[in-house]
Amino acid sequence: MPGFRSEEPQESEGAGPGAGGRVLVTGATGLLGRSLCRQLRDDGWSVIATGFSRASPRMHRCDLTSEEQVHHLIHTHKPEVIVHCAAERRPDVVERSSDSALNLNVHATAVLAKEAASCGSFLLYISTDYVFDGRNPPYGEDDAPNPLNLYGRSKMEGEREATRHCPDSVILRVPVLFGEVERVSESAVTALWTSILDSTQTCSVDHVQQRFPTEVRDVARVCSQICSRRRQDPSLRGVLHFSGTEQMTKYEMTRAVAEAFKLPSDHIVAATDPAPGSASRPQNARLDCSRLQLLGLSVQPRPFRAAILDCLWPFTPDRRWRQTVFH
Ligand SMILES: NC(=O)c1ccc[n+]([C@@H]2O[C@H](COP(=O)([O-])OP(=O)(O)OC[C@H]3O[C@@H](n4cnc5c(N)ncnc54)[C@H](OP(=O)(O)O)[C@@H]3O)[C@@H](O)[C@H]2O)c1
Repeated sequence: MPGFRSEEPQESEGAGPGAGGRVLVTGATGLLGRSLCRQLRDDGWSVIATGFSRASPRMHRCDLTSEEQVHHLIHTHKPEVIVHCAAERRPDVVERSSDSALNLNVHATAVLAKEAASCGSFLLYISTDYVFDGRNPPYGEDDAPNPLNLYGRSKMEGEREATRHCPDSVILRVPVLFGEVERVSESAVTALWTSILDSTQTCSVDHVQQRFPTEVRDVARVCSQICSRRRQDPSLRGVLHFSGTEQMTKYEMTRAVAEAFKLPSDHIVAATDPAPGSASRPQNARLDCSRLQLLGLSVQPRPFRAAILDCLWPFTPDRRWRQTVFH
């Protein structure tokens, strides 16, 4: 079939809470998906990793916007669990390329959810705090979404499609993510690194919108725990929230990153006006994560400064300087 690689990818299985159960991860080439696949393998799941343009020969390549490819993928593997990470998650790209973004974020989710239902797979859908308008935080799991931009609307629609076809699915909402990146622009948090390094120019960074940077390794542990719990307790379903606990504007994040790396940050200026031409974003969409905590499925997030050091050190320009920071 065109676009679908049939070579046998590497799967893994073993002891642990997953005990060889088959979990299919969409968006496995992305920021969260890479970390999630590692965590699930460590926890003993047999992982079927799927990507699209970046899929390596050892992964499954599937264009989720092709109904035929999705049908083939799901019915070939009949996974016990599907974790649906793939999405267009950049709000400005979603506004610019709305047809293709909605096709992936909404339509492909509906198709995947239908196939999941027909195979009896448990669906874990990854969603976002951008489903909320950010005017009245914190937001509980049952609060009504009211997205301000098309990305948030598409994820809200994705949530609805997931639950329409798989009423027993779990929706996990998370805020802005960071982690080990292939390039710093891959996460809105690590992207701040560029403005830190160029200290020859002043750089204005938003100091209005409140964010809760969340490390993908923590999200991956939460997802893995949800998958394992679901095995023991088939009644686990509905909306869950997980979030880092440190509240920061992007300006404060930039200063914190510079401080962690002992770099100057006097050239970073706090901006109080929204960036022109960008999609509207919530002022403070803080997530109330009590349901996850009550279920005993939460994890203690690593402190931001420690986690960001791990993510960005490969991008430090000078080895001698690296030694100053890390020793
Ligand atoms: N990143 C954040 O700050 C953030 C915040 C809140 C919620 N989320 C949610 O978390 C999830 C994971 O986000 P992320 O940051 O890991 O995303 P990401 O790094 O941008 O990765 C997107 C993934 O989607 C895949 N994809 C794109 N088009 C596809 C297609 N037509 N068919 C199949 N796969 C396709 C990409 O595959 P290729 O690269 O191989 O093409 C990639 O693996 C998303 O659902 C997002 O909405 C993210």
